[in-house]
Amino acid sequence: MKVLFASSEIHPLIKTGGLADVAGALPIALRKKDIDVKLIMPAYKGTLDKLPPVKNSINLGNPFGCGDLILLETQLAESHTPIYLVQCQSLFERDAGPYLDAHGHDFDDNDIRFAAFSWVCAFITQYGALIGWQPDLLHLNDWQTGYAAAYLAAWRLNHPPIVTTVHNLRYNGSFPIERFDEVRLPHDLLSIHGMEFYGRYSSLKAGLVYANAITTVSPTYAHEILTPAYGDGLDGTLRAQSHKLSGILNGVDYNEWSPSIDPFIHTHYDLHSLENKQQNKLALQRENGLPESPNAPVFGVVSRLTEQKGLDLIPAAIEPALQQGAMFILLGSGDKTLEQQYLDLQTRYPDQVSIRIGYDETYSHRLQAGIDMLLIPSRFEPCGLTQLYALKYGTLPIVRRTGGLADTVFEEGQHANGFVFNHATAEELRSAIDRSLLAYRDLSTWRTLQIQAMSQDHSWERVTEQWINLYQSLIN
Ligand code: ADP
Ligand code: GLC
Repeated sequence: MKVLFASSEIHPLIKTGGLADVAGALPIALRKKDIDVKLIMPAYKGTLDKLPPVKNSINLGNPFGCGDLILLETQLAESHTPIYLVQCQSLFERDAGPYLDAHGHDFDDNDIRFAAFSWVCAFITQYGALIGWQPDLLHLNDWQTGYAAAYLAAWRLNHPPIVTTVHNLRYNGSFPIERFDEVRLPHDLLSIHGMEFYGRYSSLKAGLVYANAITTVSPTYAHEILTPAYGDGLDGTLRAQSHKLSGILNGVDYNEWSPSIDPFIHTHYDLHSLENKQQNKLALQRENGLPESPNAPVFGVVSRLTEQKGLDLIPAAIEPALQQGAMFILLGSGDKTLEQQYLDLQTRYPDQVSIRIGYDETYSHRLQAGIDMLLIPSRFEPCGLTQLYALKYGTLPIVRRTGGLADTVFEEGQHANGFVFNHATAEELRSAIDRSLLAYRDLSTWRTLQIQAMSQDHSWERVTEQWINLYQSLIN
């Protein structure tokens, strides 16, 4: 079975969030089950430097008038997973991130950039025989690839089935109708049953409407997005398509995220040497200029700072714990108001709070290993990966009951592995923090919870069967 897996970010080449982790791990797990998956991603500035030399290069012409689109083929260095890169200097070789400029603003031609990328995905899916590799299925991820489903619909030919995975409905790829001609799609796709979206058009909606199956990254999110509260304006579309919607939980790449082998942490540990976790806590405190306090409970956050994550609730909710001697360590960037709120907290509690504004992959590992509790008070969370990493590191998550957090973190019963609250209020978060402190003060309770957390298996191998079954059902 040949699958073209399209993603705008792939770890370790480029990453802004969990999508990159998924695209860097699920295809590899599928290849271990003999699925012939090839990745495809834009060739951003610097991407090719992180890859072995290109083997093939095909010029696909200049369909958008932005310069030739060149298809390059190579493979990921460690796993040898084949990967296509779409090269087009004017569209992709830019400074700053894949979507935002140096000032944190969306590039003003993101529609054309990701339409062009998607056009190449559609081209390979339809005409792969011409380049010697014909996919049996196209797997799209989020709005950046949704246009591919639109091109395949517009070409009106029989084409291989399409799966669209929704990692985050909030980013819906909506653009002004006046710019629609720029992406070279026919106007009959602009109906309310097509790409039209409240007076704009949405590439994600194309990915939903023209796909043969839609998946989301957790079962609970798959239910939630059928409601107006979580549907972000697409719940009506999703209800109409609900026969083809399912939720498959994300996994973890334990080669990257295991405290027994993690090259970035101070001291290795596992289930049987949990006492070594404390060395990581002391190292983290030292690294941040905080007093070394083995017994102080340390709360942490690793996150994009956005409305989604509910991080505005933390400063008020954590303050009573700080007054009792707890510590708080954050790594994140995004919303400037939130950044300032956290920096203010650090100013007020310089010996207990450490705030690092920025993105730092290796520090995120040290943080997960060194803290005791990870706070994730999300307003919505399609899956969430940081709580899964925390579990493996014996760091107990404190989460709001939503999406993938609800599917993976439990406060009650024999699988209890963290602390869960229902409503996105500082009071409920504070009360969950209080409950975690109570458990923390009783070492045997805490150890039991840690062991239950670390014993949970969220490896990708656990879910590849579900993916293969889905692919198979569409191809047959
Ligand atoms: P989302 O994709 O919504 O951001 P996830 O929990 O699925 O949330 O994935 C976030 C990923 O990004 C995780 O791998 C997390 O460790 C990483 N991450 C988030 N913020 C930072 C940061 N500031 N520095 C390093 N890694 C980060
Ligand atoms: C999105 C979601 C996050 C999910 C990730 C990977 O960024 O916000 O919840 O874990 O995609 O699927």
